[in-house]
Amino acid sequence: MLSKVITISQQKGGTGKTTLAVHLAMAFIKYHNLKVAIIDTDPQGSLGKWFMIRSERKVSNENLTFKTASLWGAQYESKTLKNDHDIVIIDTPPKIESDARPSIEAADLVLIPMAASHVDFWATGAIVEIAKKANKKILAQINRSSQRSKLIDKTKDFIKSLDLQSTDTIIGNRQIYTSSMGEGKTAVEKQRKGNAVDEIKKLSGQILNQLN
Ligand SMILES: Nc1ncnc2c1ncn2[C@@H]1O[C@H](COP(=O)(O)OP(=O)(O)O)[C@@H](O)[C@H]1O
Ligand SMILES: [Mg+2]
Repeated sequence: MLSKVITISQQKGGTGKTTLAVHLAMAFIKYHNLKVAIIDTDPQGSLGKWFMIRSERKVSNENLTFKTASLWGAQYESKTLKNDHDIVIIDTPPKIESDARPSIEAADLVLIPMAASHVDFWATGAIVEIAKKANKKILAQINRSSQRSKLIDKTKDFIKSLDLQSTDTIIGNRQIYTSSMGEGKTAVEKQRKGNAVDEIKKLSGQILNQLN
């Protein structure tokens, strides 16, 4: 068992926390043969909804465990799940500044998704500070952006200005991420190849390298 915890956090909503949580989970299972647990700490429960549709449609996977918890509960829950899972992914709600600590403290790696957008830059400082104070390994993840966007360089500069590392993968703006989740699935289950599959596969490998 690897027994590592990844917390996906960012106080701005809609940056792709939940999308990345499920796609990374399925990529770890599918391409790296790992056992994965995901914990939904967002009262909105979009991850839970995804899992429910998944269960109803019997898209089961014996290597995937789903739990819900409060942000505080996630610390205890992840400790327990670590015993019999390689990776535990904690998906967090937006606006968590004051309550973020337990879910950050539980993490071996904090993943911070952001678009190549100034609005996302402005929202990122608080969570970075909390994760740094907790001495955590932090990775910024550029999501929903085109490789060719003029803002990519600005985003990389911004990440550097926070003294952060980012993954080498830019996740594109692709409908398959959204449509697959509506069916309780992920892009890596809907497609055998393609841009989404390539980038998620690559990202999952890079993150595992960082955890080792
Ligand atoms: N890379 C992407 N390409 C296209 N749509 C995306 C991408 N990432 C997220 N989305 C969409 O953006 C919306 C917000 O994503 P979500 O993962 O729910 O964000 P968060 O959990 O941070 O609030 C959803 O409708 C989701 O399908
Ligand atoms: Mg979410």
